[in-house]
Amino acid sequence: MALQVFTAVTGAAWESELVGELDRADHGVTVVRRCVDVGDLLAAAATGTGQAALLSAELRRLDGDAVARLLAAGVAVVGLVEPGDHTGADRLRQLGVSRVLPADADAAQIARALREAVSGAPATGHDVGDPRAALPVLGLPEDPADRPTGRGRVVAVWGPSGAPGRTTVAVTVADEAARLGVSTLLVDADVYGGVVAQVLGLLDESPGIAAAARLASAGTLDVPRLARTAWAVAPQLRVLTGLSRADRWPEVRPQAVETLLEQARRLSALTVVDCAFCVEEDEELSFDTAAPRRNGATLAVLERADTVLCVSGADPVALQRTVRALGQLREVLPDVTPVVVVNQVRRGPVPGDPEQEIATALSRFAGTRVGAFLPADRRAADAALAAGRTLAEVAERSALRVALRTLAAELAQVPAPRRRAARRRR
Ligand SMILES: Nc1ncnc2c1ncn2[C@@H]1O[C@H](COP(=O)(O)OP(=O)(O)OP(=O)(O)O)[C@@H](O)[C@H]1O
Ligand SMILES: [Mg+2]
Repeated sequence: MALQVFTAVTGAAWESELVGELDRADHGVTVVRRCVDVGDLLAAAATGTGQAALLSAELRRLDGDAVARLLAAGVAVVGLVEPGDHTGADRLRQLGVSRVLPADADAAQIARALREAVSGAPATGHDVGDPRAALPVLGLPEDPADRPTGRGRVVAVWGPSGAPGRTTVAVTVADEAARLGVSTLLVDADVYGGVVAQVLGLLDESPGIAAAARLASAGTLDVPRLARTAWAVAPQLRVLTGLSRADRWPEVRPQAVETLLEQARRLSALTVVDCAFCVEEDEELSFDTAAPRRNGATLAVLERADTVLCVSGADPVALQRTVRALGQLREVLPDVTPVVVVNQVRRGPVPGDPEQEIATALSRFAGTRVGAFLPADRRAADAALAAGRTLAEVAERSALRVALRTLAAELAQVPAPRRRAARRRR
């Protein structure tokens, strides 16, 4: 059966010709509706009568939300740009359209791209005959030199509810990596309310993640703009502050987060993301599959990150929460294997040697080993909070700082600094 396709390429000079050619039966594609604008396209998608949409970069009011809604309605999307329009192609890609062809590609190529988009095959960049005359199908870079992708690593700092210390770990790891000379971006992506700005004593309102997400949704987020929306708090450290009000979470859509991380990889060698705890998928609660999902942003970060840290507390209740959270994460994102970091380790809440006991419990109940133990160090943590400074600034020699610096070096893939503090005399 022919693929049922919506088009939304109105206004382009080549539209009629293209639609006429596409409709020819031997391409296996039927244009079931020529939509006049984004609203029309979304309404058509909601009827469930088409499996794919062909749209042009010039389509007015096209944004990341619209693309996300199409995808959520089960409509695969292929983009068309004027030949040579790299800016338009990049913009479509930012909006979440992974297949983009030049408008002068022939109908057979466009039909094939539509079929592949529906089947979910990865975009390969091989269906445009002459890559010099035609833009590559985006998705995979044709020539990395022409289209540099970011090399920076992304570390997601996640963990169960109960304030195990995600923000402390994220902030300190980012700060320590920057001190080790690694250009670092710290992103507060906690959709339940960001506190990184406060923890770092950044008093002024800054545009932060909501602004970056807005730019991403509009398809205009690039490295300079990302740099401008973040604070430069130290020579190698930028901070993208979080949502000042938790009820603004719908502004941070998963697609926008993906684009943000892509640009972050270009901006910084290391991006550390402070994530919310929750990974439950809440779309079952609603029949409207296009409704924004609060945890979608967290899931997008966890899925895209090179490393996911699961920060756990060190007492029996916290450990139980970690076991549950790991189980939930496995259900939702089976390919993500987090590195468990047990924080606030101290004698008392578990009998015997805490590290050994905790390692045994997590191995038995979660089938996971512990990547790092961080000591409880209330004095150091309080001193940092009280001053709105980092551990390196207020508790340079504390055991917690030293442990987090080692973790930061590992995550940033640079040599761990020597432990010289203990020998120095004041
Ligand atoms: N190793 C530690 N030793 C002592 N106190 C710690 C340690 N790590 C974190 N804390 C303290 O625990 C509290 C919670 O930490 P933090 O805000 O980092 O947790 P969180 O997981 O981000 O919480 P939330 O769920 O609010 O996002 C803070 O007061 C922090 O100073
Ligand atoms: Mg936090």
